Amino acid sequence: MNDNLHTLRCFGCGARIAGPEARPDFRCAQCGDLFEVEYAGWNQRKGPDRPNPGALKWLWRERRSSSESLDQSGVWRFRELLPILDNFGNAVSLYEGNTPLYQLKRTAKSLGIDQLFAKHQGMNPTGSFKDTGMTAALSVARERGFEWVACASTGNTSAAMAAYAARAGLRSLVLIPDGKIAWGKLSQAMDYGAVTCQLKSDFDGCVRVLTQIVKEAPIYLLNSVNPYRLEGQKTPAFEIAEAFDWNVPDHLIVPGGNLANSSALGKGFRELRELGLVARVPRISVIQADGANPLTRSFAESNGEKIQPVEAHTRATAIRIGNPASWRKAARVIKDTGGWCLDVSEAEIAIAKAELGAEGLGCEPASAVTLAGLKKLRVQGKVAATDAVVLVLTGHTLKDADYTINFHRGSLLTASESAGREQEISSLKRNAVVVDPTPAAVLSALKGMAG
Ligand code: F0G
Repeated sequence: MNDNLHTLRCFGCGARIAGPEARPDFRCAQCGDLFEVEYAGWNQRKGPDRPNPGALKWLWRERRSSSESLDQSGVWRFRELLPILDNFGNAVSLYEGNTPLYQLKRTAKSLGIDQLFAKHQGMNPTGSFKDTGMTAALSVARERGFEWVACASTGNTSAAMAAYAARAGLRSLVLIPDGKIAWGKLSQAMDYGAVTCQLKSDFDGCVRVLTQIVKEAPIYLLNSVNPYRLEGQKTPAFEIAEAFDWNVPDHLIVPGGNLANSSALGKGFRELRELGLVARVPRISVIQADGANPLTRSFAESNGEKIQPVEAHTRATAIRIGNPASWRKAARVIKDTGGWCLDVSEAEIAIAKAELGAEGLGCEPASAVTLAGLKKLRVQGKVAATDAVVLVLTGHTLKDADYTINFHRGSLLTASESAGREQEISSLKRNAVVVDPTPAAVLSALKGMAG
């Protein structure tokens, strides 16, 4: 039996092609826009291919206690909603997904909202949300017989790709911006055996070079222009809906870099609604760093209709992206769901990260933009006290330990970046202290820490 039910539809001109017909750069031959995976019949309420919602909910829950390897993946557990492989037996999995949804009681209280949660995608096998997309797209690469896969990355995609390629026995090529990715991520690409090239350029420059390479060599492109990545990355939407007993939260807040994740989560919720699994979709808001904010500007200037690339600068290196590939898809999700796009400063990111840490939830700086953005949305009256809000935390805190240590040592932010927020910052700082090796010295250090 062939498990494959998909076609590719161009997001720009609507042209439809079969999956294997996509060009190596995944751009539409007619208009140059990106493709989206489509499943015929799903949006016709009585179509023959339309799955049965009640049966699916039951099946997905049952699989959580199954010992079958495909069922143990939080992505392939939902495989009826991502029929992209000829044979699901070709799936390459590290048992990704099934990540925790934590309640943030203290932060909710301080913001005056009833229900605040963090969906921690940093709890995936390589420490970021990229694993959910990589299991999907790398499985397609393997099924189609590629020997080499490649990506340009700010670090997490490359870590995920290298790991999944190693599992599948494929070779992987990583292009990363020299000196602008966190060590944890670089070390992973090396550990998993990728060929890692540090280019004297930024992420956007790495993308340009790789786009040429895949046109000249039989290498499968695994950046998020590859629409199969988004099929995996939509599955946290299913997990969130399931955790809310198929009543979705009011508002989902997502960091924005290359803008694939927000697009994927929007697609996930949209498909659940089309299939009758949920009655409505949450608002989806996207938060960027103010030094890497092309979509925020686009909304301010043209309501998300046009984009002007920027030269990106932020210490949240994961989202240091000036020319995001999936901006049209993300803009559509924000508009269709009634969400917002806004940016936050370096100090706001650092403070939010420390606040999440103080609730026991470490994350990457790029993930902390979600809390910083929520605070702004709350002040602007765009989040009601009764709203149930979910922050999507995208990466594990250990990816970028330097950032955290520098914050607590007081060497992260410049004086002008922290101006006006010195007290807030100093109340969050927990630098390590050096003391004599005696109980008295340690106890006296505790006294100094009281409160
Ligand atoms: N958070 C983290 C931790 C990331 O690594 C990324 C993107 C994002 C948020 C933004 O997601 O691009 O889908 O809007 N990292 C990519 C990479 C670009 O190469 O690892 P997005």
